[in-house]
Amino acid sequence: MKLTVVGGGSTYTPELIDGIAGRRTSLAVDEIVLVDPDEHRLSIIGPFCQRLLSHAGHPAKIRTTTSLEQGVEGASAVLLQLRVGGQQARASDETFPLTCGCVGQETTGAGGLAKALRTVPVVLDIADKVRALAGENTWIVNFTNPVGIVTRALLEAGHRAVGLCNVAITFQRWTSGLLGVEPDSVVLDHVGLNHLSWERGVLVDGVDRLPELLAQHSEGLAEHIGIDGSLMQRLGMVPSYYLNYFYNHDAVVKKQQTEVPRAEVVAAVEKDLLDIYSDPKVVTKPEQLSQRGGAYYSEAAVQLVHALTGGAGAERHVVNVRNGGTLPFLPDDAVIEVPATVTASGAVALPQRPVEPSISGLISHVTSYEYLALEAAIHGGRDRVANALLAHPLIGQHAIADQLADELIAQNRDLLPWV
Ligand code: G6P
Ligand code: MN
Ligand code: MN
Repeated sequence: MKLTVVGGGSTYTPELIDGIAGRRTSLAVDEIVLVDPDEHRLSIIGPFCQRLLSHAGHPAKIRTTTSLEQGVEGASAVLLQLRVGGQQARASDETFPLTCGCVGQETTGAGGLAKALRTVPVVLDIADKVRALAGENTWIVNFTNPVGIVTRALLEAGHRAVGLCNVAITFQRWTSGLLGVEPDSVVLDHVGLNHLSWERGVLVDGVDRLPELLAQHSEGLAEHIGIDGSLMQRLGMVPSYYLNYFYNHDAVVKKQQTEVPRAEVVAAVEKDLLDIYSDPKVVTKPEQLSQRGGAYYSEAAVQLVHALTGGAGAERHVVNVRNGGTLPFLPDDAVIEVPATVTASGAVALPQRPVEPSISGLISHVTSYEYLALEAAIHGGRDRVANALLAHPLIGQHAIADQLADELIAQNRDLLPWV
């Protein structure tokens, strides 16, 4: 099987390859193609990934190319993990909203909209090439942020795509440690949208251990998530750490106003990682990679590709899929992040019990924003950008939405096809 990684020059790629190397028997890959416009990065990441595989005794061959066409031709599955505009554009996303008193984040609020506007047209072009050159049956696994909006764009254009994020699997691995059980025995009752999700239950052998977690590990949870344990207890749920940007918005903005943007931190980590990857003596995943936010990304991706390529029968995975009535208060074509049954025919959301009013309003609000964000990404236009910002729960005011729209367009001028 040929697996293609678009954005394969990412410093995350060795994480993914490490996951493949460790699952030699479950995922029968013999060729992995890394596609990236950055030849320099490919010349470092490619050979390092090959060393990772060979050291683990995995027979797969790594190939690198700057040609998307050559890269996707004949692929069984294509993983998308690209970042249009690189860390430089991310730094802009993390800072321009701050002048309006709004959170600066690459997937949430105005920064997340900027990223969506840059990314959706590029990803749709790539997906068209996948369909033409790899075939109608090839699965696209989308890890490209903002995952909810990008996955919705892919599904609406008729592509075979599933969206993936590591928030759920990271929580699963972390709580299994707290509970002293096997990670795979923890079944999460996870609901919401990408980067706007809550754990409503943590089942082990059919018993919900969430009350115990909230009672006994509230400090650890609070430290891990950045949200007060007392709030989690009151909600009776564990929000993802992205809810911090909502529940503690003003405090986060205040902190961000004096902090070095994450993009700068990541740029420094990436420089170190590339130095390490360049050393021919290094044949295993370096510890420094854990300074990036992609923990367990490899496990989630490998499991998902395995299930989508028919290797696993039916499996339960938390993914981003079409709502299709699962959450009845949202439109059918919204993309939600919930447990789904995954087979070679795709991912179908599992039925959900009614969603608590404490969170359903926010989910609905952000879903409407995501719809408007996609309209703006596909059709362009300053007013569509301003409309999406006005509909975002963290923005919502006319003057601020208009100012942010103008600033967003000014800063992304060269990366927006319609400007
Ligand atoms: C988590 C999120 C990803 C995001 C990443 C950022 O893994 O789920 O969607 O891309 O964090 O990590 P970084 O190291 O780039 O800040
Ligand atoms: Mn994510
Ligand atoms: Mn332009």
